Amino acid sequence: MFLCVCKGVSEKHIRNALNEGACAMRHLRCKTGLGTQCGVCRKTVKQYIHEVTQVTQPDKTTAVDTANSLHL
Ligand code: FES
Repeated sequence: MFLCVCKGVSEKHIRNALNEGACAMRHLRCKTGLGTQCGVCRKTVKQYIHEVTQVTQPDKTTAVDTANSLHL
């Protein structure tokens, strides 16, 4: 599913960028271009990253810390 329609960025693109070491929203923007046009997708992307980090890190405190470290 596309999370950023303007730039054609899907969930897969974001997961790949995170797996390749993106550790801040600006890295995701640089790697994928998401959020650089209308910006409507930014809130959805933040929510998606929170969900992904909770799935991969069942310790909720750690997931929140990870999300915060992404400067979301
Ligand atoms: S939907 Fe992402 S910049 Fe417009």
